[in-house]
Amino acid sequence: MEEIKVFCPATIANVSCGFDVLGLALDSVGDEMVVRKIPEKEIRITKIIGQDLPLETEKNVSGVAGLALLEKSDYEGGFEIEIDKRIKPGSGIGSSAASSAGAVWAMNELLGRPFSKLELVQFAMEGEKLASDVAHADNVAPAIYGGFTLVRSYAPLDIVPIPTPDELFATVIHPQIEIKTSDSRKILKTTISLEKGIKQWGNLGGLVAGLFQNDYDLIGRSLEDHIVEPIRSILIPAFDDIKTNAMDAGALGCGISGSGPSIFALSQGENTAQNVAKSMEETYQTIGVPFDIHISKVNIHGVKKLG
Ligand code: HSE
Repeated sequence: MEEIKVFCPATIANVSCGFDVLGLALDSVGDEMVVRKIPEKEIRITKIIGQDLPLETEKNVSGVAGLALLEKSDYEGGFEIEIDKRIKPGSGIGSSAASSAGAVWAMNELLGRPFSKLELVQFAMEGEKLASDVAHADNVAPAIYGGFTLVRSYAPLDIVPIPTPDELFATVIHPQIEIKTSDSRKILKTTISLEKGIKQWGNLGGLVAGLFQNDYDLIGRSLEDHIVEPIRSILIPAFDDIKTNAMDAGALGCGISGSGPSIFALSQGENTAQNVAKSMEETYQTIGVPFDIHISKVNIHGVKKLG
């Protein structure tokens, strides 16, 4: 195979209680990318449509992730990348992760899969480091593994795939403002109280258990964030109203997607996810905030080949 076209999913990181450790992949939102082999040992970004992003390899997240893979590979050639960028940067649904994960996943396919998923996550984390100054894995891991993933440890990197209950749907609303992950990390405190820690790890354990046990009530009870949401939510228009209305419409839980400004809700069943979407839309329409909205099943495959 000389060329491959892939779908690179958007992702929801943190999922309320799992800051920097938990994430899930979406089905209906993502970028498309074509990667082809070239004889020269280099990465070339030849085309980006949809967004204004740098073509220079070292300044592009898919470029640096690809370079990290090439460095560890005995392949003599390189790759050319074309990106159809549908996820807006700074939207909070893993725009940089989609490009980083998509590029290294596609390259691995073209090379006959010499690298493990864990290694691909490590390469893709270089893209995240370029985008946000921190090599966090909670977007790239679900993009590569699919479904929900837990980053059990960063050093050494240990990713735990978590099963997805069949009826789980995500609703994501994106108010049309841009928040850079690096900026929304700067406003966070670097220490937390033991009291908040106890609440947070209780919820994280509860959420993971709920996902394993298909226990939607437990999932809902666990979707709480006592540490990051109270600080970051002030950057997001009408966050409290969106959340209250989404919960009234039947959501299991609602929180900030990644570093925002997108807000996600999880629901049991597509009908409820649609009602939640309606409540979110009405909230923003009433106060005149422009938005994009998506309803998606959890994507259990991650990056996938198209065509
Ligand atoms: N865990 C990261 C953050 C995700 O919240 O800063 C960024 O998408």
